Amino acid sequence: MPLYERHVFVCTNVREAGHPRGCCAAKDSPKVRELLKAEVEKRGLKKRVRVNQAGCLDQCEHGVTVVVYPEQVWYGFVKPEDVAEIVEQHLLGGQPVERLRLADVCVNTDRCAHRGGSVQLGLGSVKKTI
Ligand code: FES
Repeated sequence: MPLYERHVFVCTNVREAGHPRGCCAAKDSPKVRELLKAEVEKRGLKKRVRVNQAGCLDQCEHGVTVVVYPEQVWYGFVKPEDVAEIVEQHLLGGQPVERLRLADVCVNTDRCAHRGGSVQLGLGSVKKTI
């Protein structure tokens, strides 16, 4: 069996209602994963791309969080209606969907405004507030 070209991890972590960080499951991540798997199969990528559910990816404020390896492309605020575009443009075409991509300063930093930091972020771009 050939190696997978890409792995797609979808956070499906569940937290109790009212948790300050929220969770991806409450934002429809199981549906995102289900649709990603179905679209990957429909587009003939099943032997090349593996879609997996993941526990918390520690990007909760940006959920639904999806990360694609080996490129290390982080997507945030992914909705079910975004799935076809991710598969078509990124998994088939090799070009990340910039409008859904988290800015580098959003991932694993305390500077991210979504986490109460001082840098206001947009998807695919960084807007400084100071
Ligand atoms: S709950 Fe999804 S990244 Fe933490």
